[in-house]
Amino acid sequence: SPALALWPYPRWIAHRGAGKLAPENTLAAFRLGAQHGYRMFECDAKLSADGVPFLMHDATLDRTTNGAQALGSAASAVGGDHPWAALSQLDAGAWHSRSYAGEPLPTLENIAHYCIANGFLLNIEIKPTPGVEEKTGQVVGEHAARLWHGQAVLPLFSSFRPEALAGARTTAPHIPRALLLDTLWDGWHNTARELGCVAIVCNHALWDAALVARVHGDGLRALSYTVNDDWAAQRLIALGTDGIITDRVDFFSPATP
Ligand code: G3P
Ligand code: MG
Repeated sequence: SPALALWPYPRWIAHRGAGKLAPENTLAAFRLGAQHGYRMFECDAKLSADGVPFLMHDATLDRTTNGAQALGSAASAVGGDHPWAALSQLDAGAWHSRSYAGEPLPTLENIAHYCIANGFLLNIEIKPTPGVEEKTGQVVGEHAARLWHGQAVLPLFSSFRPEALAGARTTAPHIPRALLLDTLWDGWHNTARELGCVAIVCNHALWDAALVARVHGDGLRALSYTVNDDWAAQRLIALGTDGIITDRVDFFSPATP
C-alpha cells in the first residue's frame, strides 16, 4: 500500500471557527478559536447569487442571520438567491448573543486574509446551495487558488458532494481534496479515488480499525467530525486517525498530541 504523503495539518480543527461559543462561520468565531490555541479551522463556503464565495452553513439565511427580516423576503430566504451587496449588510451575530450583534457574514477572501496573516490553516467545506454544486466548487477553487497563491500550506477542501470536489479540481487541481461521508454509501471508495482525494472526513462513529486500515492502505488520511466528548476523541486517537473537527474548543486543547 502507498506510503502516506506528508500531512501539513494539525490534529485538532475548530468547527465553524469556535463551535457553538461564538456565531458560527464568522471572523469573531475564528478569533475566539484562536484564543483557545487553535491553528486550523473548518468553515462552510457557498456562493452568493453573483458568485462571491462566503461563509454560511445553511442554505437559508434564517437560523444564522437577520436575512428574512432585513431583505424583506418571506421566511426561508435562500442565501444563494441574494447578491453579495445585500448579504454583506446582514447581521450574522445577533442570533447567537447580544455581544456579537452586528457581526457580518465573511467572504472567503476575508477569512483567507485572516488565516494567512496569522499562519492559520483552513479546511474549506464546500457547501453548495442545492443545484449549483459543480459551479460552487469551480468558483471556490478559483478564489482559493488566487488567495493562497505562493503559500507554503494550502487549504484543505472537503465536501459531501462529489460534484463540488470535481468542480474545485477543474480550477484548483493543486489544492488537496477530502470526501466527507455521513454514511458509507455505495461507491464512496471509488469516488474518493476518482476525485484524487487525500483524505476521508467521516462522521466519527463510522471509524473502526478495519475502515482506518482500508483508508490508510489507500494512502488517504482519516479525519472525523464533529467530536465533542473525550471518550470519542480518545477512541479516534487510539485508532490512529489523523484529524478531529470539534465544537469544544474550550474543552480540547489543540496542544494535546
Ligand atoms: O466539515 C465537517 C462538518 O462540518 C460537516 O458537517 O453539517 O457541520 O457542515 P456540517
Ligand atoms: Mg461544515
